[in-house]
Formats: sequence, C-alpha cells, structure tokens
Amino acid sequence: MKFNIAVIPGDGIGPEVTAQAKKALQAIGDQYDHTFIFKEALMGAIAIDKTGNPLPDETIEICKNSDAVLFGAIGDPKYDNDPAAKIRPEQGLLKLRKELGLFCNVRPVKAYEKLLKNSPLKEEVIKGTDIVIYRELTGGIYFGEKKLSEDGKKAFDGCVYSTEEIERITHVAFKAAQNRKKKLTLVDKANVLETSRLWRKTVTEIAKEYKDVTLEFLFVDNAAMQIILNPKQFDVILTENLFGDIISDEASVIGGSIGLLASASIGTENALFEPIHGSFPQAKGKDIANPLASILSAAMLLEHLGLDEEADAIERGVQKSLNLGITTEDIKGKNSYSATTSKVGHFIADYIQNQDDSNLNFQNIHMGQSTII
Ligand code: IPM
Ligand code: MG
Repeated sequence: MKFNIAVIPGDGIGPEVTAQAKKALQAIGDQYDHTFIFKEALMGAIAIDKTGNPLPDETIEICKNSDAVLFGAIGDPKYDNDPAAKIRPEQGLLKLRKELGLFCNVRPVKAYEKLLKNSPLKEEVIKGTDIVIYRELTGGIYFGEKKLSEDGKKAFDGCVYSTEEIERITHVAFKAAQNRKKKLTLVDKANVLETSRLWRKTVTEIAKEYKDVTLEFLFVDNAAMQIILNPKQFDVILTENLFGDIISDEASVIGGSIGLLASASIGTENALFEPIHGSFPQAKGKDIANPLASILSAAMLLEHLGLDEEADAIERGVQKSLNLGITTEDIKGKNSYSATTSKVGHFIADYIQNQDDSNLNFQNIHMGQSTII
C-alpha cells in the first residue's frame, strides 16, 4: 500500500531521532511491500528562524493532506529563557494540535524487563507495569483565555472544558480499557476545580455504557504519588490536558528513560506521532539521543494505519536492541554496547529486514560495522 507521511523534524534532537524512525519505516516498506512517501515540513524554532512563524500555513496543509504525521521535538533555550518573547516554538505544536483536531493523546508506559535496573524506582515496584495514559489534548488551561495586566503584575490562564470535549476522549479511553485489563482511572482535582467536577459527572455517566470496565477516581496529587508507589495498580488513566502532561513525564521514570516513551495524538481526520521527550538541546547534533521513542512512535503510526504486523516488527526490533544491549548511553546497562543514535536506528532497520537471522553471531553481525572495522 501507499501512504503519505508528513515529517516534521522540528528542533534540537528532533531531526536526528526522526531520521531513525524514517529508516525503520523505510525498512518496513521494503520488507512488507509498502510505499511511504515522506514530505518534510517546518515547525518550531527552526520555522521561526526561517519564516518568522512557528507553524507556517504550508505545514498545516502538508499535514492535512497526509495519512499520518511523524513529529520530532520542539523548543529552544533561547525562547525558554525569555519570558517576554511573544512568538514561541511551542505555539506551533499547540496550534497544529488544534488545527488537526488531535483531541486524544495516547501515551503507553511500560517497564521493559531488560531496563528494570535503569529506573531509580525499585525493581519489584515497577516490574510488570503496563499503563496507557489518555490525555485530552486540545482543551483545558492550554487553550483557555490568557491575559497579562497592563502593568505586567497580574496574569490569568483560563481553564475551560465542555461536556463534548470530555465525552469524545472518554469513549476512546473506555474502548481501550475494554481491550486491556478493563480498568479506567480518571485523574482529576474534583475537590477543588469546577472543570474536574464536570469531568467526573460526564465520565460517570458514560461508564454506564461500559459495564465491563471498572471506573476509579483519583485526585491528581494522590495519583502523582500512586504512580511512583504502586504503578501496577493502573491500566488506563484518563485525564485532562495539563494533568496528563505532568503525570506522563513522571510515569516515564518507570521505563528507565524518557527516551523510550512514544505517543499518538489522534483526531477524527488526522493523526500525529511523536516521542514525549523534548528537544534536549544539550545533545543536539551529537548523535547520542535515544531514538527509541521516535521509532516506537513510528510503530504506533503503523498500527493507526492498520498495519499491526508491521508495527509488531518494529516493536520486536526495539526489544531485540534492548536485549542485545545495543542502546544509547542513557539506558546503557552493564553489558551494553554504547551505540550512537544512528547506530541504534540502523540496527533496528536491519533487524526488520533480517528477522529470520538465527545466526548465533547475530549480535556481532549487527554490531559489526563499528566493532570489527
Ligand atoms: C508534551 C510537551 C508539550 C505539551 C509542549 C512542548 C508544548 O510537553 O507534548 O508533553 O506541554 O503538551
Ligand atoms: Mg510534556
């Protein structure tokens, strides 16, 4: 089959990790007889530098005309450290989410057996963790009215949710729970926030349609603690925009590195796939960033296109690289080979095309280019 993929490399390490995800997709194309037509587009600090606009209209057009969008990362310290900046890279991503109607952000978190020791959390606490966070992505405080008083001494961010906005993601999350361990935890702050009370009411109502799923509620402060204390209690977590942003970074600690967490942002017409990590400017251009989150995002992209077998092949490739210890520095274990970003990408692409390679020397063959020469 033929697919149009919009590629937005973005800022910092975005281009390096996205290049590895593209390699994986190309290998999938060769192996399973698909054609991926990649079209690059600008967004973020790089787009501001080149066009003055963090999200040029052309990018929106390219994304709207694609079957899926693969995105790298956004952000640059020169904007982070300037609170007076009127134009910011992140505005590009937020506008794109809104323009494409990407209301549902899916962030899987799991503890890879091979990486249990990489997490600062105790092995017995995280072993077996398998959570998916459903984060509402186009509403709440991110998109509410913002104001700064004339004298610059008072600021305001409004948080607004409508029942429609809550309902559409809630259905998606319940359906996901039905195909998993049938538990859904709504994370909110209903003891304080009016919007959270509307979430509880709406989700409780919808739960009646999904009687096989157990619904639980947790205040976000308690949830932040429970995710670290006992992450295995969770199956599907459903939450609003800001809480989802915060708890998904927190939950990434379970996986041993934020460099492993992939995400899908889904709407009715469009879908975008991106690692949850940021632009990691300190690592830019050094070929050291972990590409696995981006590669796993490519797997989620394939699943979205209905290519489950192909998505599986990528996941097996990632698992193989972890098992063999062909990993970047951030998740390097005792017996691991510290590989560059591009080497890890090369290994996974190579695995996809040589999955039957039962040679006992598998590791040496795949590491060959750098160790033997
Ligand atoms: C994320 C990021 C973004 C967000 C930033 C870059 C605007 O942190 O996708 O989690 O806050 O949504
Ligand atoms: Mg975030």
